[in-house]
Amino acid sequence: MRMYDLIYTKKMGGKLTPEQIAFWVEGAARGTVPDEQSAALLMAICWRGMDVEETLALTLGMRDSGDRVDLSSVPGVKVDKHSTGGVGDKTTLILGPIVAACGVPCAMFSGRGLGHTGGTVDKYMAVPGLKVELSVEDFRKSLLETGFANSAQTGDITPADRKLYALRDVTATVESIPLITASIMSKKLAGGSDALVLDVKCGAGAFMKTLDDARTLAQSMVAVGRAHGMNIKALITRMAEPLGRAIGNSLEVMESVEILKGLHGDSDLAKESFRLAAEMLILGGAAPTLAEAEQRVAQAVASGKAMDTYRAWVAFNGGDARALDDFSLLPQAAHTQDILAEEGGYIHAIDSRCLGILAMEMGGGRASKDDVLDLGVGLTIHRNVGDRVERGEAILTQHHNGKLGNPLPKGWIDIRPEPCPKAPWLLETI
Ligand code: URA
Repeated sequence: MRMYDLIYTKKMGGKLTPEQIAFWVEGAARGTVPDEQSAALLMAICWRGMDVEETLALTLGMRDSGDRVDLSSVPGVKVDKHSTGGVGDKTTLILGPIVAACGVPCAMFSGRGLGHTGGTVDKYMAVPGLKVELSVEDFRKSLLETGFANSAQTGDITPADRKLYALRDVTATVESIPLITASIMSKKLAGGSDALVLDVKCGAGAFMKTLDDARTLAQSMVAVGRAHGMNIKALITRMAEPLGRAIGNSLEVMESVEILKGLHGDSDLAKESFRLAAEMLILGGAAPTLAEAEQRVAQAVASGKAMDTYRAWVAFNGGDARALDDFSLLPQAAHTQDILAEEGGYIHAIDSRCLGILAMEMGGGRASKDDVLDLGVGLTIHRNVGDRVERGEAILTQHHNGKLGNPLPKGWIDIRPEPCPKAPWLLETI
């Protein structure tokens, strides 16, 4: 087999066979296919696309390039959730304990943040002592003992994706639906869960800016999952303004606890987290209808069972569970400074990307992959889209340790005299 023929076929709009795709992916991971040929094929895929069969072959090739997690010794349908990433998105911290409290094993591998979006693993690092990098054995034990396991990716998972992603990054080939699909789904399939709920974010603060693009990505990931026999569902959710009231690692842990203790129940963050949890219960076989699943979620929160599971999970994984009830045990910034409204009116838009970048510049996120985080810093959002604000009123509070970041750019917030109807958080389900 010659890489030249694969590149030529795709350049002319043809279809690659599963054998050809496996040859390329294996060769890219082992170093027997030169980078320039992989880069040329990536560009051809960007222009010509791939059908579901090709995308599945690419996904499986990447999955099989490294370690795979075997969760078959854990009874029940293991359910995972993936979000394409947003500012203030701490739904994983909320839904994990709920799903586990409802008896469905919840097994999630999460990432670290880069740029304006935070990573779940970084948020958990704010809890003193909590282990965020588990061996496969400890991941399984956590799942068996607490019903919940969440860790940074373990072992050598999908090295072919790492290799190809690095090439995509420098060849302007990241934005390709089949390449994104294979990259995400290969990691999810290697993670060993039986079912998956996808939260595909859509809007100014997300990877996918338009509903059309978000829908195409969601359909592609669902098609690949189903073609592989996985039970899978996608929600397309709005990511324009930040999700919830907190941005920053320790602050986001506090907000997740507040939601699990029943506070802010009518917020988009609570509604989205509870709905994702309900969808996971349905896929996990614990509820036949959405109404029943939502009722079980509400009971798990109201009874305190979800919070008990959160405490048990933190303690089992070496963390100080007292920090979930006594926030003074979590990292705290030494100073606060308010950002005030320059005019009065109704908030029509907040650019979540600007706030994500500000939190990053304050030390709460990474501009480059080796940056060390300040876990206590971040932003509290007092007024969000749809709210009325008076001139001089605090819209945000910066929790900082001396680094305030650059001033927010003009246009980060849109305040107008007329009221702004609240846009729905859920755009579509697939
Ligand atoms: N996230 C991934 O893991 N891969 C992509 O290609 C894009 C986003």
